[in-house]
Amino acid sequence: MTKRIDKMTILIILLILIVISGYAISPIIMGKFNKYKTLSQLSRPVTVTAHRGGANLAPENTLTAFKAGIEAGADMIELDIHMTKDGHILVCHDETVDRTTNGKGRINEMTLAEIKKLKVKNHAGKVLNEHLPTLAEVFSLVKHSHANGYKCGMLIEVKGMNDLYQGIEEALAKMIEQQEAREWVVVQSFDDKALEHMYRIDKHLRLEKLVAMKFPGLPIICDGFHLSSFSFDKYHYISSFNCYHGAISRSFVDEVHAHGKEVKVWTIDDGKAPDVNMDGVITNSPDLW
Ligand code: G3P
Ligand code: CA
Repeated sequence: MTKRIDKMTILIILLILIVISGYAISPIIMGKFNKYKTLSQLSRPVTVTAHRGGANLAPENTLTAFKAGIEAGADMIELDIHMTKDGHILVCHDETVDRTTNGKGRINEMTLAEIKKLKVKNHAGKVLNEHLPTLAEVFSLVKHSHANGYKCGMLIEVKGMNDLYQGIEEALAKMIEQQEAREWVVVQSFDDKALEHMYRIDKHLRLEKLVAMKFPGLPIICDGFHLSSFSFDKYHYISSFNCYHGAISRSFVDEVHAHGKEVKVWTIDDGKAPDVNMDGVITNSPDLW
C-alpha cells in the first residue's frame, strides 16, 4: 500500500512539474512560433506608444526622452508614476532612485525636494544635468507640444502594488481633471487594485490592464510577479489588454477583439511585431515605427 502511495505521489508530482514547466516555456514557444512583420506588412494600422518616453532615444522617463518620443511622431508617450513621501507624483520606473540617478533611496521615503537634488544617470552610468520629472512637468511638456501641433497622448502606468502609494489614484484623477486631459490620457497598471480604484473615481477614463502572460486555455493571467484570475466580466471596465510580446498568442488577441476590446504589445524595439492583429505597439524605439 505504502509503495502504491509512493508511486502515485511521484506520478502526481511529475505531472505537476510537466504542467508547470510547460507553462514556463510556453512564452518562449509562442514567441518562436509567432510570425514577425514590419509596420508596413501588418494587416491593420497600429498606434505607436513611446515606452518610458522612448528609452532607446534618451535616458528613460526623462523630459528629454518624452520630447524625443513626441518628436519621433509617437501617438502616445508611456511613463511610470510613484508618490513621494510628501505626496507629489514622480515619474520613474523603479520604486527606488538607485538605478536611474546618482542617489539612493525609496521614493515613498523621500521628499520631492530631496529627489530634485539628484541627477539622472544614463545607461552607461554617466551623470547628466537632468532630474527625475514630476507628472505635472510632463503634462506641461505635452501641452506645450500640443500647442506646437504634436497631438501626443499619455499612457500613465501606476506603479506600486497593494496600496504602496496611498492616495495616488485620487491625486492622479485630480491632475487629469485640472489638466483637462481626459480625452488624451490613458491609465494602465499591472495592479487590479489601482485600476479598480481609478474606475471607482472616474467611470469614463480609459483604463488598460498590463498582462505579462495569459495562460492558454485557463482563466489565469500572470500580471507582473503574481497570478490573477481572468475573465472578461472581471475586466469589463478595461479597454485594452497590454501584453508582453514574448507571450502573446493570436487566439488570445482574437478573443479580446471578440469582446470589443483592444490589445497593445510591449516592448517591440526592432521595427518588427508578431503578426497577431494587435492594435498598438509600445516601443523603446518609436523612431523605427
Ligand atoms: O507599457 C508596458 C510596460 O511599461 C510594462 O513594463 O516594467 O516597463 O513598466 P515596465
Ligand atoms: Ca511602464
